[in-house]
Amino acid sequence: MLKLAVLISGGGSNLKALIEAAADPSYPARIVCVGSDTEAPGLEHARAAGVPTFVVRPQDSDSREEWGQLLAAAIQEHGVGTGPEPGLVVSAGLMRILPAGFVREFSPNLINTHPALLPLFPGAHAVRDALAAGATETGVTVHIIDEGVDTGPVLRQAHVEVQPEETEEELHERIKQLERPLLVRTVRDIALDTLDLVQISQQHQS
Ligand code: GRF
Repeated sequence: MLKLAVLISGGGSNLKALIEAAADPSYPARIVCVGSDTEAPGLEHARAAGVPTFVVRPQDSDSREEWGQLLAAAIQEHGVGTGPEPGLVVSAGLMRILPAGFVREFSPNLINTHPALLPLFPGAHAVRDALAAGATETGVTVHIIDEGVDTGPVLRQAHVEVQPEETEEELHERIKQLERPLLVRTVRDIALDTLDLVQISQQHQS
C-alpha cells in the first residue's frame, strides 16, 4: 500500500478526488497526511475523512529552505519519505515552489499536477497565460517535481480544447474535471509500479 502525503493551498478538489478514490479498499494508496502552507479551505476535506493535517507557514521561517525543512519534517513524522518504503508526496494545488533541499529529500517520489500541457505555460498562472497566448488547446500535466519550476519529467497529460469567449475560471474548471481523475489514475499506476518513478527520472537526466 503506497503512503501518500498530499500538499494543498486552496479548495482541495484534487485532494477530495484522492480521498474518495482511497476510500475504496481496492485502491492501492492511502493518504496518511495532508499539509498546507496556509489554513487552506481544502484541509476540511481531510479533517472530514479523519486524515491528519498540518500547516507550515513560510512566514514563520527565516528562509525558504528552512520552511522546506519544517515541511519535510512534518511529512516524515507520518512515515512518508523515511524507511524502506518511501511513499509519495503529491503536490495537488500547493501554490508554492518547493525549495531545492525539500526536492532532494523526496525525489523522485514527489509529483505535481499542473493545469497546462507542460512544457507550455509553467508557473502560477498557467490557465490565464494559455488564454492570453490565444492557445486553442491546453490541458493538464502530472509530472515528477525536480528543482526547476514545472520542468520535471512528464508522467501523464490530458488535453482540453479552449472554447471561444471562455473565462479563466470556466476553462480552469473544465481542466480540473480531467485533472482529478488523471491524478487518481497516475497515483494508482505509481502504486502498482506501472509507472516507475526512479526509472523515469533517471531517463530524464541522461
Ligand atoms: C489545480 O488546477 C492545480 O493544478 C493547480 O491549482 C488547482 C488546485 O485545485 N495548481 P484544487 O485546490 O485541487 O481544487
